[in-house]
Amino acid sequence: MAAAITSVAGYLPEDRLTNKDLEKMVDTSDEWIRTRTGIEERRILKDPTKATSDMGAEAVRALCSKSGLDPTDIDLIVCATVTPDMLFPSTANLIGHKVGATKAWGFDLSAACSGFLFALKTAAQFVENGTAKNVVVVGADKMSSIVDYTDRTTCVLFGDAAAAVLLQNDEGDCGILDSQLYSDGSGGDYLCMPAGGSLRPSSHETVDAKQHFIFQDGQPVFKAAVTKMADVSYEIMQRNNLTADDVAWLVPHQANLRIIDATQRRTGVPKDKVMINIQKYGNTTAATIPLCLHDWESQLTRGDNLILAAFGGGFTWGSVYVKWAYDGKK
Ligand code: UT7
Repeated sequence: MAAAITSVAGYLPEDRLTNKDLEKMVDTSDEWIRTRTGIEERRILKDPTKATSDMGAEAVRALCSKSGLDPTDIDLIVCATVTPDMLFPSTANLIGHKVGATKAWGFDLSAACSGFLFALKTAAQFVENGTAKNVVVVGADKMSSIVDYTDRTTCVLFGDAAAAVLLQNDEGDCGILDSQLYSDGSGGDYLCMPAGGSLRPSSHETVDAKQHFIFQDGQPVFKAAVTKMADVSYEIMQRNNLTADDVAWLVPHQANLRIIDATQRRTGVPKDKVMINIQKYGNTTAATIPLCLHDWESQLTRGDNLILAAFGGGFTWGSVYVKWAYDGKK
């Protein structure tokens, strides 16, 4: 059995936060943000009554409607997120309820910006071993809920979004063919949300110290991301005897255009074969890679070799080799 992506859908909130808007909020400039990150605008889920599960549910509804899958036929939902609606119940659980996936079980997976790849690999096992037929993998993050909009070093980077893929058995040779994933907890302190967990439960002190927002020491994260995302992509290509010519698309996590460029150069994949939408959405954490697949779906054909790659908080990083299973134009 091979687990293949057989459909993809995305959800983006309507409200846009542009670089010009940010210029009015913090001491930054459109020029700085564009040249240092490649970002021009991002989407923000403004409705205070809506959470990550609402975006995830929108994506899964769209996935079901375009693939003709009845929600009651979903066996499993895995949701990659670092902005769950609450610590528990899981966001996957809430999404399942919202879409009417009454026969599915589900769980959340926390691996920050590598979350989608970790979830994809995990979820694929259930299709491969025959214990599930229809598995939905969601990458969803309401990053605006943990961004400090007075901190110019982080608030320019992130956006809100969700995207989902359907995994099913492929009768041929397509699917998730190989993966290499890594975790290194020694990088944990460089990119984290310091409070709200069991180490520093929420208190007046943690709120006053702004510890419920993203903390990032940008430079060490950048340095690690540039080398590790590029190296692991190259590693997976080598191992599968793939040259740059064999790769139809490089699908990188969208954190910084300079990190994407480094991965492009290391793999040798031509620039026009790299999916880049960071300018429109910023870093949507677990949603970036499935959102790329969603945006490029109409250009994908069965048999295309895709190299997915990510680096994120944890540190976590990895690459997944996917042989695309369907013609996206249909
Ligand atoms: O997706 C999860 C993984 N995360 C990442 O991959 C992010 C990795 N890190 C990065 O992408 C980059 O480190 C940043 C985009 C976050 C920062 O870019 P940088 O080129 O590393 O800038 P820097 O932190 O070295 O800061 C350079 C200068 C500093 O000023 P001084 O000390 O040189 O006077 C910052 O204070 O830029 C300043 N700065 C800003 N200036 C205008 C930092 N943020 C801003 C800003 N606008 N928004």
